[in-house]
This record gives sequence, structure tokens and C-alpha cells, in this order.
Amino acid sequence: MLQARLRGVCFHSLTEGEEGAKSGDSSSLPRSIVDLELDELDGVGPATKAKLNGAGILTVLDLAVKSPSEVADAVGSDLTRAADLCNKARTKLVELKYLEEDFVSASEIYKKRMAIERISTGSRNLDDLLAGGIETQAVTEFYGEFGSGKTQICHTLSIMVQQPIGGGGLSGKAVYIDTENTFRPERIVSIAESRKLDPRKVLDGIIVAKAYNSSHQELIVGELGNQVRKASAKLVIVDSAVAHYRAEFLGRGTLSERQQRLNKFIHALVRTSEIYNLAVVLTNQVQSSPDTFFGDPTKATGGHVIAHTSTYRIYVRKTGKNRVARMVDSPYHPEREAIFQLNERGVDDPPEESSSSRRRS
Ligand code: GTP
Ligand code: MG
Repeated sequence: MLQARLRGVCFHSLTEGEEGAKSGDSSSLPRSIVDLELDELDGVGPATKAKLNGAGILTVLDLAVKSPSEVADAVGSDLTRAADLCNKARTKLVELKYLEEDFVSASEIYKKRMAIERISTGSRNLDDLLAGGIETQAVTEFYGEFGSGKTQICHTLSIMVQQPIGGGGLSGKAVYIDTENTFRPERIVSIAESRKLDPRKVLDGIIVAKAYNSSHQELIVGELGNQVRKASAKLVIVDSAVAHYRAEFLGRGTLSERQQRLNKFIHALVRTSEIYNLAVVLTNQVQSSPDTFFGDPTKATGGHVIAHTSTYRIYVRKTGKNRVARMVDSPYHPEREAIFQLNERGVDDPPEESSSSRRRS
């Protein structure tokens, strides 16, 4: 924590400061893998280890989730040496059967997919749309206009993940990266109370990091592995993933740098979701698209980077009292819609008569 603080990154448990984070110190990963020190790798001597540690890369797992360019920055080496270090970390995890080999049979992949777990959104309709809930080992993006309910979905999910498996959760904590200053602990309390849960316990299970600008947001993601391990988190939320980049990189001239930075940021989240078997949920805004004459005249911001990296994209919009979610571009879900509501329980199903989800015509 101290090291994180020194580098300007601060994760807060909501009720007890650092105590909350400490209380969940046991990880769901085997200890031998969690604690695997960097000097277990060939070619990592004390000097390299010290440099990596100084950059918050403490274990082989931390190294495996970094990109070569981040490692190159940390050790002051060229990209080739950094890529070699990243590969050594991955190979070590493959040897320990924690990661799969590069070439594997389809049945191995199927087995890994069987390890995917799901978190309920709080609405049965929305869960059906997601084939059971938000998946671990994946990045799920909710995008839509202001007021469509993205932040409410994030609040509800950060409660649901803490519930036991039979209750729609994974008995894990949530790490909530708040870039728009819209996280509201009092909303968590009221949703928890409506769901007959202990609000204090629920607050304790959410670790919040406020990101003040895009660089800070990247720094926070750099520190994520440590936080996820400490808290035994099963869910990482970034609400919103793109807002800072959108505000800071104005004009065509800055587009390529923006996309590069965004790309790095999102890929770090993808790696984290796979390595720690956790769910990542992003929110994204929409931009008006004047060249669209048919269909919905809105599309998500962030361009191809987000579109191609999110595993699942869900478009959310208001219709009267209800909200409609549509699965867009999923590798295996049918493209269809589900109706849900926002109420005192956060995300919920509408009353019976309008509650069925419908296939898109
Ligand atoms: P932006 O972040 O501005 O893009 O919007 P968003 O998509 O994150 O919207 P958000 O999740 O903040 O949704 C706001 C809407 O949630 C409000 O307009 C309300 O309709 C609903 N909402 C928020 N709090 C409550 C509540 O306590 N009770 C009920 N019934 N609805 C609520
Ligand atoms: Mg919001």
C-alpha cells in the first residue's frame, strides 16, 4: 500500500480504510503461485528484481500481466529484453499449469471455459441475455447515453459479486475504478438494505480508486494485480473507461496517441481478467453519429480499440420507465434484447407483465 501511495495510487475500502483490504487477505489462487518471487525466473538478478519491485511488479504473476513496453520502462531495458522477461513469466506459469500452453487442443480450451464463473446483475432478464450473468475471464462493456443506467449497473454488480455462489455472486470483492466521481456509497447502502444485506459488510467488500486523469487511471491499473490479490477480488469495474481519454485528447492530431494509450489500458484489463479468473466491467458513452441513417444513431466511443477488445458489448437505453439492454457483437450470444428496471434494489426485473426479454426483430 505504501509503495502504491508513493506512486500516487490510492485504493480505499469504504468503511475501514486499509483494514477492509487487509481483512480479505486470502487469495483464491494457490499460495505457491501468488507468492512466486521474480528471482525464480532465469535471468532475473537482484538488480532487475529491485527495479521491477520498484515499479510495483512484485511477483511472477504481476510480470505476466504487464506488457513488454511497461516492463521496458520499469527496468530501463530495450523491448526485446523486456519481452523476454514477460515470456519467461508466462512460461513459468504454463509449467505450473496455471496458464495454458500456446498450442492446446479444443478440449483444453473447453475445460478452461468450464472454469468461467458468473455474477448476477440483479435482474433475471439481464442475466438471461448474458447467458447466466457477467463472466469471469472476460471484459464486458455497457455503453449507452447519459442516464441509461450504466453506473447503476456497476453499483449493483459490486454488491452482487459479494454474494455466495447460490445467491448470484462469487463470494469475492469488487475493485471499483471511478473516473467520473459518480460512485456513491450511500447508493450502495440503500441497494444493500433493499436486498436485505448488511450494508457495512457490503461497503467493506468494495475497494474504490478514484482516477483523476488518464495517466492516473493507467497508474491505478498498473497497481491492480496487488489489489486484486489482497482483496480476493472477483470483479473489476471501470466507470467510465473512456471519459478521461475523450476529454484530454481533443482533435484529430491526438487520435493515434489516444488510441495507443487506450489500447494498452484495455489490454492490461484483459490480461488481469484471464490471469485472476475475474470479471472486468467497463462503461462507455455514446457519440452522436450523423452518418447513420438507419438503426440507432448512436455508437460507442473509443473506436476500434474498445470494440475489438471487449468480449461482450451491451447497449443500454431508456424506454419509458424501463431500460432495454441489447447484446451487440458477442462471439456466441444471440443478438437480442432484455428489459430491466432501475429501482431501490438497483438493477431489477420489471413487474411481471412487461418482464419477458425479446428477440430482436
Ligand atoms: P452517465 O454516467 O451520465 O453516462 O449515465 P449512466 O448511464 O451512468 O446513468 P446512471 O446509472 O447514473 O443512471 C441514472 C438513472 O438511474 C437516473 O436517471 C434514475 O432513473 C436511476 N436511478 C438512480 N438512482 C436511483 C434510485 O435510487 N432509485 C431509482 N428508482 N432510480 C434511480
Ligand atoms: Mg455513469
